[in-house]
Amino acid sequence: MPLPRRLPPLRPLLLPARCQPVPPCRRLRAPSAGRGAGMPVWGRVAVVAGAAAAAAAGWRYLEEEKRRRRRARRQEELRALALGRGGFQLVDHTGRARRKEDFLGTWVLLYFGFTHCPDVCPEELDKLGRVVELLEAEGARRGAIQPLFITVDPERDTVEALARYLRDFHPRLLALTGSAEAVRQVGRAYRVYAQAGPPDASGDYLVDHSIALYLLGPDGHLLDYYGRSKSEEQIARSVRHHMDTYQPLPPPGHTD
Ligand code: NI
Repeated sequence: MPLPRRLPPLRPLLLPARCQPVPPCRRLRAPSAGRGAGMPVWGRVAVVAGAAAAAAAGWRYLEEEKRRRRRARRQEELRALALGRGGFQLVDHTGRARRKEDFLGTWVLLYFGFTHCPDVCPEELDKLGRVVELLEAEGARRGAIQPLFITVDPERDTVEALARYLRDFHPRLLALTGSAEAVRQVGRAYRVYAQAGPPDASGDYLVDHSIALYLLGPDGHLLDYYGRSKSEEQIARSVRHHMDTYQPLPPPGHTD
């Protein structure tokens, strides 16, 4: 086959029409080129830094706003629970009068029970002691956490009975007792159920009672509670979290 006399022009094959070389594009310059064309470099740096600072401030404001709302929600939840609000006036196992305010500034782990309890109370008080040891082993200041035991059986749990009973538990565990009315009142404040059963032939009786460990923050407010199924590790982890994120609650009626 003979070659065509003239080859088609080469250029259109290699460079389709839309790929014509573009003129240098002015748009490649910064959008502020018009306004800042005459601006020295330090000026432009200042503008950018100012914008970044404004963005950071905005972000901080939003974060703070989120935290504020979270705090307000938590306050509402705790107020709705209204647990442990009231004060108490009891006496400890050394005979010293103790009021709730005496524990302000300290984290308190509080358990309600009675010394004649055959198994649950000793187990829970053992666990309470181990939680305190775990937290102190992990860096909590010694004395930052006060383990507290309040009897639901003041008739038998006298100051002397409590003093004897405490020998088996954590050395800093404090046990509190008081008049039947004072003990009933503090139980009510924490919604502790306690009901003495019928006495047996020797006059011995059991007290059916609810089992929970309460965590009070340094401002005396209830922050959490743990049922019997929670292990000492789980409780210690939760307490540590509360300690790390603790923010005191403002007095009631305050909204921020
Ligand atoms: Ni018990």
